[in-house]
Amino acid sequence: MDPIRYDPTGVFVAGGITREDVAAIMPKVDAARREVLTDAELWRTGGPVPPAQEPLDAGFIELPDRLLAEYQKNRATSELGRILAAGRRLADEVDRVLVLGIGGSYMGARALFESCCPPYYNELARSERGSRPRVYFEGNNVDNDVTQGVLDLLGRDRVAAGVADRWGIVVISKSGGTLETAVAFRQFLAALRQSCGGDAKQAARLVLPVTGQSGRLHDLATALGCGEIFNIPDGVGGRYSVLSAVGLVPAAVLGLDVVALLEGAAAMNVRFRAAAAGDNPVLDYVAVCHQFEAKRDAHIRVLSTWGKSLEAAGMWHDQLLSESLGKHERGATPLTVVNTRDLHSRGQQHQQGRRDKLITNVIVDRPRREPLAVGRSDLDQDKLNSLAAKTVPDIMAAAIAGTNRAYGEDGRPTADLHLPRLDEASIGQFFQMLMLATAVEGRLIGINPFGQPGVESYKSHMNAILRGERT
Ligand code: PA5
Repeated sequence: MDPIRYDPTGVFVAGGITREDVAAIMPKVDAARREVLTDAELWRTGGPVPPAQEPLDAGFIELPDRLLAEYQKNRATSELGRILAAGRRLADEVDRVLVLGIGGSYMGARALFESCCPPYYNELARSERGSRPRVYFEGNNVDNDVTQGVLDLLGRDRVAAGVADRWGIVVISKSGGTLETAVAFRQFLAALRQSCGGDAKQAARLVLPVTGQSGRLHDLATALGCGEIFNIPDGVGGRYSVLSAVGLVPAAVLGLDVVALLEGAAAMNVRFRAAAAGDNPVLDYVAVCHQFEAKRDAHIRVLSTWGKSLEAAGMWHDQLLSESLGKHERGATPLTVVNTRDLHSRGQQHQQGRRDKLITNVIVDRPRREPLAVGRSDLDQDKLNSLAAKTVPDIMAAAIAGTNRAYGEDGRPTADLHLPRLDEASIGQFFQMLMLATAVEGRLIGINPFGQPGVESYKSHMNAILRGERT
């Protein structure tokens, strides 16, 4: 597997911080790594969590290795085997799937969809989709008109006549009680039952629930008669759950290479545990980000994705960093940009605005498809014949180098994170690297990276308002 590569040279060139600054903090970052590994060990052994460390959601670290090991031992009956079989079965039976979930129960699956499926996937014919269904992400908002639009799309009261007309639901909620997802599930489930002509058993076959060991969704799925309920293990927090059933069930429905995804994450674990600073993307990234914030008072972390398929991966990271470290009036602010698009919107501010940003470029080294040339034309009014032999990747490479140079000349630091190509193995490494980095940074700055007490506040007010209670 080609490894992803973190190169912070631009940060040093632009005079943001020095290599010595990074070396100086490394012993503390390394100590934070050991703490995180101890957290992981606690999850593996099921040892009691000291109250001061609650909540401790470090289960994401060993999860990929555990899922792969079980699968190698027992293909059909392992959790991964069951996820793959259920995904395949649903894909064979329907041509549209709604994935319902919000926050950590949504963003990772969407990132996988956008980065690993062909562009405009839902527009393709079923054969071009590998006989897999179209996928729509809902239950992540409360938008009346969008819900109505989706019901229109699904055919409202129409009884599905065959695969092309039939649709299903993957509903994901760890707590099982999140209002946005629960309301959407109730509404779409009613429509699904109608589309199955009132056949409750058939409707249950077309629902794949992913939830915790107990809770309202678990109870509902049981009452509905769903054949399988996929579990989100205790100790795996929402925004750290993309490599559990939360991301894997939608990925299996889409026919993605789930094994390669987990192998990517497992490979990152190996590097995290064993590699020395300088060759350890997690440690190096944390040290640079932390020192940049500490020494330059720069609180904004721009994840600058190059290309159109990584926007959702950036949004996934926005949530990961915000909910994990945005506590006690601290924590860097993440911001995803998609370039070259956003060079024409945010670029001005990044070049000449406040000096409060560290930019990390996410660069895909090789495109999946043949490079497309600009091409020669008998209409050269656009003056592009001089670039006729250049390809789209050539233009992208020039844009990246040119932007880094422009920022560097103005003392605006940029680091580069290289993904060898956009595929499951790279994305698995990317997810695991950033989840590990977030946990390590939390330990480094003394903020528990797990739990999100601030999010509970809006939920309780919203519920009280809806039920006419005073708060
Ligand atoms: O990171 C988290 O834990 C949150 O973002 C949750 O994923 C989100 O609130 C959804 O929760 P649930 O899966 O319980 O519906």
